[in-house]
Amino acid sequence: MDQWHRSRELLALARQSLAGGVNSNVRLASPPTPLFFTRAAGALLHDVDGHTYIDYALGQGPMILGHSHPAILEAVTAAMADGQLFAGQHELEITVAQHLVRLVPCAELCRFNLSGTEAVQAALRLARAVTGRTLIVRFEGHYHGWLDNMLVSVAPPLDRAGPRSAPHAVAGTVGQSPAAVAESLVLPWNDLALVEALFAARGDEIAAVISEPVMCNTGVIPPAPGYLAGLRRICDAHGAVLILDEVITGFRLGLHGAQGTLGVTADVATFGKAMAGGLPNAAVVGRRALMQRFAQDVNHSGTFNANVLAMAASAAALRELERDDGAVYRVIDARGTALMTGIRALAAHHGLPVLVQGFPAVFHVAFTDAPAIRDYREYATGCDRERYRRFTVALLRRGVRVIERGIWYLSAAHSTAHIDQTLAAVEAALLEAFAAPSP
Ligand SMILES: Cc1ncc(COP(=O)(O)O)c(C=O)c1O
Repeated sequence: MDQWHRSRELLALARQSLAGGVNSNVRLASPPTPLFFTRAAGALLHDVDGHTYIDYALGQGPMILGHSHPAILEAVTAAMADGQLFAGQHELEITVAQHLVRLVPCAELCRFNLSGTEAVQAALRLARAVTGRTLIVRFEGHYHGWLDNMLVSVAPPLDRAGPRSAPHAVAGTVGQSPAAVAESLVLPWNDLALVEALFAARGDEIAAVISEPVMCNTGVIPPAPGYLAGLRRICDAHGAVLILDEVITGFRLGLHGAQGTLGVTADVATFGKAMAGGLPNAAVVGRRALMQRFAQDVNHSGTFNANVLAMAASAAALRELERDDGAVYRVIDARGTALMTGIRALAAHHGLPVLVQGFPAVFHVAFTDAPAIRDYREYATGCDRERYRRFTVALLRRGVRVIERGIWYLSAAHSTAHIDQTLAAVEAALLEAFAAPSP
């Protein structure tokens, strides 16, 4: 019988009452079929067919402490007993904000939301308010949430993407407002000369530059040396707001996010995922002079913002991440480094074209001969993505779950035994994926 029989049965049932049987389009495409899970603890995930997986999807990033971490469970359970939502303030929101202000370079004031998507919207509105300008510079292959003004040129088909030096702003879905799409000026990432030229031509119309500080959503591409500092300089010279979207990198690359790790300070930054132990919480943070506008004339609202459970989870997660001067990051670095090195060694041993790039806490695996992927177009043209999808299914069959786009997340719950088991599965799955002819 099919190994994922029960998942397929449940998907058919789900499709009767849920569009496509899922609740995020990201999950529609999961090969071999969207799976149904029963529970997760530590680094392990269990599905409805009785399989156990070592998990490198980690809920798309948030579960940096591992699933069902005792400190999160305890904090949420205790807080829940005293009420969930007050339509008013409670002390835990101050606790979480104080963590952010202490740890994040640009964070002088904070506001909380439920999702990274919302936090980005708050940042954009703020940038427009303080500059009185409309246009936003963004980069091909970066993801900043699913709303109309940001689902632009995230994965544009190259026949519609325009020339590399002046890409078209390509809508990411049907049903999107053309006016919202037109608010973006799109550039390839890691090319400072093009940013300079765009600002020289249209600087007085540009409210903000928004960028992932590491291009995690496509290739986990690090910034070229001096690139982020260059964006900082250009924004300063033209009075534009630099927004760093740290929804993935925040509390994953380290206690001080990418800003701390890479030595650049944004005006405004957005956080989500790893800051909340798996509960929905996100933040927009930034310089006091800008953020203060939320207390004056810039609207930012939400029924569930800073709800008790999210704040309890965040306070606990940040306390755990900070413990012993960030000891968990040293564990994650060691495990991630072992895994990256191990995958590279297996590929070299078998003479296979496998690229592993990024950071131990979040890296990307691609099937390509290229020595590095430096922007979206190199990723889109240079990688054998169909074979990689086949590899992810071969891994699943061997008890390892990874995201089919190529990104791998590490948690503090991954042990050396998990890494060894994973590398054994990787070797077999690589041989299987490369045994078949190119798809
Ligand atoms: C860099 C970045 N920004 C924003 C978002 C949107 O966050 P959310 O899915 O919580 O709305 C994501 C989600 O993956 C992201 O990776």
